[in-house]
Amino acid sequence: MAKIQIFLLSLLINSLTLISPTLGALKQGFTTDLIHRDSPLSPLYNPSLDKWERVRKSIRRSFSRVSRYSLSSSVSPNDVVSEVKPARGEYLMEVYLGTPPVKQLGIVDTGSDLIWTQCQPCTQCFKQKLPIFNPRRSTTYKVQSCESKACQALDPNQGSCSRRDTCEYIYTYGDQSHTSGDVAAETFTFKSRNRGNTSSFPRISFGCGIDNSGTFSEEGSGLIGLGGGPLSLVSQLGSSIGGKFSYCLIPFAVEGNFTSKINFGTKGEVSGRGVVSTLLVQKSPETFYFLTLEGISIGNKRIPFSSSKRSSLSTNDYGSEEGNIIIDSGTTLTFLPEDTYSELSNSVKRIIRGTPVLDPSRTLDLCYQASRSLKLPNLTAHFTGADIQLRPDNTFINVSEDVVCFAFVPAQDISIFGNVAQANYLVEYDLEEGTVSFKPTDCTEGQ
Ligand SMILES: *[C@@H]1O[C@H](CO)[C@@H](O)[C@H](O)[C@H]1NC(C)=O
Ligand SMILES: *[C@@H]1O[C@H](CO)[C@@H](O)[C@H](O)[C@H]1NC(C)=O
Ligand SMILES: *[C@@H]1O[C@H](CO)[C@@H](O)[C@H](O)[C@H]1NC(C)=O
Ligand SMILES: *[C@@H]1O[C@H](CO)[C@@H](O)[C@H](O)[C@H]1NC(C)=O
Repeated sequence: MAKIQIFLLSLLINSLTLISPTLGALKQGFTTDLIHRDSPLSPLYNPSLDKWERVRKSIRRSFSRVSRYSLSSSVSPNDVVSEVKPARGEYLMEVYLGTPPVKQLGIVDTGSDLIWTQCQPCTQCFKQKLPIFNPRRSTTYKVQSCESKACQALDPNQGSCSRRDTCEYIYTYGDQSHTSGDVAAETFTFKSRNRGNTSSFPRISFGCGIDNSGTFSEEGSGLIGLGGGPLSLVSQLGSSIGGKFSYCLIPFAVEGNFTSKINFGTKGEVSGRGVVSTLLVQKSPETFYFLTLEGISIGNKRIPFSSSKRSSLSTNDYGSEEGNIIIDSGTTLTFLPEDTYSELSNSVKRIIRGTPVLDPSRTLDLCYQASRSLKLPNLTAHFTGADIQLRPDNTFINVSEDVVCFAFVPAQDISIFGNVAQANYLVEYDLEEGTVSFKPTDCTEGQ
């Protein structure tokens, strides 16, 4: 019986290989789903939580994620990477590993680089719903040597060389979670849901984790790093996707079976009316996508982004430090410097005619009784060269049936433009041009 299944499977794979795109087609890229971890489509979906508990959890995750970004001048970029708290991202993506391809679900993380998945034989693996990847069953799996580019790209304290000259990695995270195993190369295949197209990429380096523990439980099969460093999926796909990827995130408030999308390659090319672009700022660590936010407007008041205490860095005409904010898909809230935040929240308070109430979970500090007559303001985020209108959907979150809260918070350390603020924009990262572009889009369109 099992033999027949394997036979049928390999037939299927062979036919997939036949229809797999040529290089020309690959250049057009591919699109796949970004499954919100709290969507019923997600294996992390917890039906016992009500909708509001899910919202509150994702708000809390924002804060634990933020602590991982803590950058201080005394900490080297590599320390930051090793302080990463895993699996705090909000979206999952399907990836098919190996030959024949085996489905895995990775947490998508624009705040880290390494791609890793749990692998058999496990010394220690956390429970995952999908079968754990078994490299012995794949004909394209190859352990990387210590001289490989991937191995060289690892930080000295994250990589080591085995006696057989194979590369091993270990990532220890701030909360004592860790993953370790072989650095290997494998064929990655992506499928477009409802489209039937598949795109395969050979020799993608990843961590085949045989010893994984900590706070990963129930959190997919591993992580898919989409950061700017050399080991991320985006960097590895490189020229075959023209250095471009984009996503379109569906607002929290939208109900129904819609999924957010992620595009790799020119398919994601953002063009046409309403597109605005801003420059990516090269800063350390290269993993993070730094932008320059000059200020935020509300009504006719423009609030400058207060420059940091470390003012030695280059500033622009508005006195904003270049690269003063990270754009991240995995953080729900937007984090601003305390001064900027307090000025902004005071202005928001002055404009809104509504009944202030306490956040039931005491996390957000500007909340109102939700009602049909409550008018929430539009804001504009002024990135250098790119003004982005933020609708109430981008700046407020319903935290319960009758309470709506401002989704911006003061940052202890680093500022982050979070995913609520990015909803209903097609956001494109062009690593070759060094830009991020935004196009207002109804992300449920065409589903
Ligand atoms: C599959 O990909 C090709 C090339 O990118 C494209 O022309 C075609 O429209 C796609 N098919 C579907 C059903 O999306
Ligand atoms: C979503 O899809 C599931 C099954 O695929 C269905 O049972 C459910 O009613 C759908 N929900 C909505 C809001 O359309
Ligand atoms: C916000 O902007 C939208 C469209 O840009 C407009 O329809 C709406 O009236 C604005 N809301 C307020 C409160 O100004
Ligand atoms: C809050 O929920 C109401 C419907 O219950 C919706 O109309 C509104 O857009 C939501 N507000 C935000 C900011 O998501």
